[in-house]
Amino acid sequence: MTEKKSFIAEKIQALPYSGIRKFFDIANEIEGVISLGVGEPDFDTPWAVKERAIYTLEKCRTVYTSNAGLLELRKEISKYLKRKINCDYSYNNQIIVTVGASEGIDIALRAVLNPGDEVLIPEPSFVSYKPCIIMAGGIPVVITTKVEDNFRLTPEEILEKITDKTKALILPYPNNPTGAIMEREDLEKIAEVLRERDIVVISDEIYSELTYGNKRHVSIAEIDGMYEKTIVLNGFSKSFAMTGWRLGYAAAPADIISAMIKIHQYIIMCAPTVSQYSAIEALKSCNESIDKMRKEYDRRRRVMLKGFRDMGLECFEPLGAFYQFPSISVTGMSSDEFCEKLLYEEKVAVVPGSALGECGEGFIRCSYAYSIKDINIALEKIERFVKNHKK
Ligand SMILES: Cc1ncc(COP(=O)(O)O)c(C=O)c1O
Repeated sequence: MTEKKSFIAEKIQALPYSGIRKFFDIANEIEGVISLGVGEPDFDTPWAVKERAIYTLEKCRTVYTSNAGLLELRKEISKYLKRKINCDYSYNNQIIVTVGASEGIDIALRAVLNPGDEVLIPEPSFVSYKPCIIMAGGIPVVITTKVEDNFRLTPEEILEKITDKTKALILPYPNNPTGAIMEREDLEKIAEVLRERDIVVISDEIYSELTYGNKRHVSIAEIDGMYEKTIVLNGFSKSFAMTGWRLGYAAAPADIISAMIKIHQYIIMCAPTVSQYSAIEALKSCNESIDKMRKEYDRRRRVMLKGFRDMGLECFEPLGAFYQFPSISVTGMSSDEFCEKLLYEEKVAVVPGSALGECGEGFIRCSYAYSIKDINIALEKIERFVKNHKK
């Protein structure tokens, strides 16, 4: 008999599982693990949002919405974007409501890529970009951001990687996992490189509400000449503590949104209806909840940063999102080895930096979307571990 052929497409066979998943599979098997691993707010979804969900169910508003999303929600998103990034997006044809920013990443790439097109991705960064580019038929081209540059993207690095096949740039700021942000001057310089070129920017702004030290998030869409070539992605998961509601959105020039709706209507139909009604409430009345969460994240950020520095780990000061990315070079271990040993010896789960790009090797990602109590216990354990394993 001939050997049984795999039913799985070669492209998918070649795709690795996320390096984050492996650790959480192990961590779930061990009792009493303290995790700083997951990028998920520990706060409850604001009550006003939950109340709106209950009301929506009571009213039996549980049918499909239009493909682009509820008109009332798109109107609120349009107002929110005007308020926050001072860009005008028409609720009629420039906004689509998606299943999280995750779907936004996927359909944005599928909408713009032809086979063989190159996409620039600064790394370390979120695990989904590379696989989504590959699944959309594109070729990921990594740009390594460096701690010396505060993990910001520089125009020189972009110029070095641009070819005549470059179709898009993913701009992942505030950044997961480094916590880096891009300020207006940084974006102006990048815009100078991109303005005259046919390159689409996919700006993942899911952490836009989480910036610290009086640094307001600036979107590249705000910069002169960039609105016309930028797809802004955002969502409710991080800012509003709504990860499980699976709701995000994209805003872009009308022709791009129209192409994204074409894909979305065939594969998704519409984002979850109850979540959409509830998100209207989030945008209308939850500013205060965001402020409270941001203040608390900031407190934890400072505690964690001091903790790492006090134990002798070099750590870049994050100004956005809710992650820290300390170097573990004093131990001489690889990121994987460090995380695995830390899990077995101290029952603390963190993410190997290498899971977020090859250049993340030698770092670990620790989320501070956990209680101060858990953060302090984890820091004590990591300190003991580092002391025991110093080179
Ligand atoms: C940078 C980044 N983009 C997108 C997402 C996906 O978010 P969502 O829950 O909206 O799909 C995440 C989730 O961790 C993320 O860190």
